[in-house]
Amino acid sequence: MARILAVGNLVLDVILNVGHFPTEDEELRAHARYLQPGGNAANTLHVLTQLGHETSLVTTLAMDAQARQLSELLTARGLDLSHAQRKLKGDTPTSYILIPENGASRTIVHYRNLPEVDFEHFAKIEIEAFDWLHFEGRNVEELKGMLNIARTFCPDTPRSLELEKPREGIEALLDQVHVLFTGRHYARAMGHADAPACIEALRHKAPQAQIICTWGDQGAWYQAPGGAIEHVPADKVRVRDTLGAGDTFLAGALHRLLEGASLQEAVRYGSQLAARKCRQVGLDNLLDPLPDDLPLANVEDVSGAKATIARVPGRDVSLILIRDGDTVKAYVNNCPHQHVPLNEAYKVDVNPFQKTMKCSVHDAWFKIEDGECVDGPCLGDHLQPYPIRIDEAGNIYAAPEE
Ligand code: FRU
Repeated sequence: MARILAVGNLVLDVILNVGHFPTEDEELRAHARYLQPGGNAANTLHVLTQLGHETSLVTTLAMDAQARQLSELLTARGLDLSHAQRKLKGDTPTSYILIPENGASRTIVHYRNLPEVDFEHFAKIEIEAFDWLHFEGRNVEELKGMLNIARTFCPDTPRSLELEKPREGIEALLDQVHVLFTGRHYARAMGHADAPACIEALRHKAPQAQIICTWGDQGAWYQAPGGAIEHVPADKVRVRDTLGAGDTFLAGALHRLLEGASLQEAVRYGSQLAARKCRQVGLDNLLDPLPDDLPLANVEDVSGAKATIARVPGRDVSLILIRDGDTVKAYVNNCPHQHVPLNEAYKVDVNPFQKTMKCSVHDAWFKIEDGECVDGPCLGDHLQPYPIRIDEAGNIYAAPEE
């Protein structure tokens, strides 16, 4: 467990799930609306808290009801807000975010009129109490002073910076940080065709930093000082929501660096965690397995003499798991004769010599190998196969095709 201080904007995210992205002047009904705390550093700390760290956010808070709501939500998540700076003027920063059904994009309209944290405020925080200091790359004039203080008073405490967008004058501060996170957005805005080109350009500004550049579903590139530029591909996953995936990546990488891992291991872990995040909406419970990750059974439990009935977690599907030689076959538990579960009247009997199994309702016999009905009322019909995957330990997982 480490103590991590991050400086950045706390934002109210108003998220609308829509069937498709609207065109100008179109009227559209959203399927769902979520209000949640956002902002890169706040998101990163939320994930770091889940990873077991003590986290503190240095941000500004407006005097409005939204700020109170956000403070409560953040505190409930375990983030410390005691170093937040109150501002009398301005509203809670708000992001209006449209996410279409396929989850592949998120379009954000920002509303910002709240002043950001000033250097004098930061100077009063006892930064010596922290093991890591992280900064959003914004608010350049004030950031300059904050980095200066951090370097002067805690020279050995690692400092990281996220460079999400180009900001006037920020390049001059990059030699003050140990770890520099950037990504596609910044790279493109700076005219770099790819991540390696971006890292090469940044290397001149930050000769001593570990530099990491993420590139969405293409993965991340990184370079330690004096080392080569390396690549870690992204895990291929079924994407539901990418909002905050970059912030999750950053948390994962930072977590492993704090544990003393190599830059490569840190980038790998960040990528895995970001991929895991993309499979769900929001950032809660990122370390828990998703229903698809729970095994249905183990190959050893599926004996030759009987069929095993299993429910696909999180889906209303019942399966027949049945031993077929060394492996296991899975069929949807639905008899094509009268569309009832095969075990509706009794258990599903198996004939090991014929390699068939029987529907308990009207005695239709099906070949285990391919689910064809070879005897009974629905002769020639087939059970519907269901895709499964079996890992090295013999655990059987549902692998639904989307
Ligand atoms: C996601 C996010 C949102 C926020 C926006 C700020 O990375 O932090 O939570 O609204 O980006 O740029």
